[in-house]
Amino acid sequence: MENNKIIKGFSKLGKDSKIEKITSFLHHPQAGIDLLRSFWHENTEVQKLLDEFSENTVTNYFFPYGVVPNVMINNEVLIVPMVIEESSVVAAAANSARFWSERGGFHSQVISTTKVGQVHFIWEGDDAVLKQCFPELRRLMLEHTKPITSNMEKRGGGILDIKLLNKRDEIPGYYQILAYFDTRDAMGANFINTCLEEFAEVLKAHLDMNPMYGGFECQVIMSILSNYTPDCLVETWVECPVSDLKGVDEITPEEFVDKFSKAVRISQIDIYRATTHNKGIFNGIDAIALATGNDFRAIEACGHAYAARSGSYQGLTSLELKNNVFKYTLKIPIALGSVGGLTKLHPLAKFSLELMGNPDAEKLMMISSTIGMANNFSALKSLVTKGIQKGHMKMHLLNILNNFNATDKEKEQAIEYFKIHKVSNKSVSNFLGQLRKIHEFQTLPT
Ligand code: MEV
Repeated sequence: MENNKIIKGFSKLGKDSKIEKITSFLHHPQAGIDLLRSFWHENTEVQKLLDEFSENTVTNYFFPYGVVPNVMINNEVLIVPMVIEESSVVAAAANSARFWSERGGFHSQVISTTKVGQVHFIWEGDDAVLKQCFPELRRLMLEHTKPITSNMEKRGGGILDIKLLNKRDEIPGYYQILAYFDTRDAMGANFINTCLEEFAEVLKAHLDMNPMYGGFECQVIMSILSNYTPDCLVETWVECPVSDLKGVDEITPEEFVDKFSKAVRISQIDIYRATTHNKGIFNGIDAIALATGNDFRAIEACGHAYAARSGSYQGLTSLELKNNVFKYTLKIPIALGSVGGLTKLHPLAKFSLELMGNPDAEKLMMISSTIGMANNFSALKSLVTKGIQKGHMKMHLLNILNNFNATDKEKEQAIEYFKIHKVSNKSVSNFLGQLRKIHEFQTLPT
């Protein structure tokens, strides 16, 4: 059986048959069936919608949906939704949001919103000839994409520029069409890819075996947007007099700033630390991307590539200390949408946007980078003072208790006890052991 798991025509099966098929490999098929079905939405319309987001869907995978209140951005206070499984992330963001709401809040501005796409092709003809005919090719590309771009243009977006890049030094005959787009409030992946495939058609139709250009083959390798969008950039910062940083744990503001600035510096020179530093930023950014139905993989990929733009991978934040003012900045490319994709289709993504007052894409970029900064600030604040484990394990306590199948009563007692005791798997296990022994003793027949 183990070696016989190839299932032909699986995608053609109905949902029940799919479930039956996959659970038949389990030791307890019926338990598997019951579990999968128990996570179906009770509203069949909603379930159908969710099923249709993807292929071979058999159930829903639940994640906690949390909210961060008191997020002050450019003087407006927002409630920001976060979808994330890591226990301490929402608490960290909320802590930071509260902290900065008393110090002027977060400040944010979008620097640019340009997105990028490429057509990669091979053509062995004369470079000078291609360069010469490119303005005409460009004109044709714009003309052929008119039916696709006209709606986007009505909304103020469209194709911004189309360039021809000669990459023949790197790969024989290799050229690139590098195109720039403004997709307004949409993430724009489908728009960009459709335009690019049209560009490729134009290239093929005019260059391929054309005797006018020497009769060379035009081999289109691929046409695809780039998730590297360094010009879809947002900058978010917090600032306050150093003296306003009192009350951070038990150290003086000066001591705090000294350690904080060294921590930031370390993230700029050490890849091991930089990766974790940036991971903390993406704790926040990914969680909003998920809550709003955005593509967090695209956003992450871009952020990490941007972090390596100098040739060495660095932390994405910087600290400026001038005239005793602490100014901490996050500059990051975030390509996302507030319309299109799942943003209005997924009922909770739609709700998330409503909760934030239906922001346009630029505002959503600012909110996302703010939460990224909030999470990073909170992490560094803990790391350079009391460390993160205490807070982290406190938040993780319920997961540990659940792993030990603690009852509600046991949880209540544990929460009380661990207010002043160190949380670890061992200490929780010992605590429950003791508790259960006492309980056994108390319920012994007399
Ligand atoms: C944990 O999810 C994130 C942190 O490790 C980030 C950091 O170290 O800056 C706390």
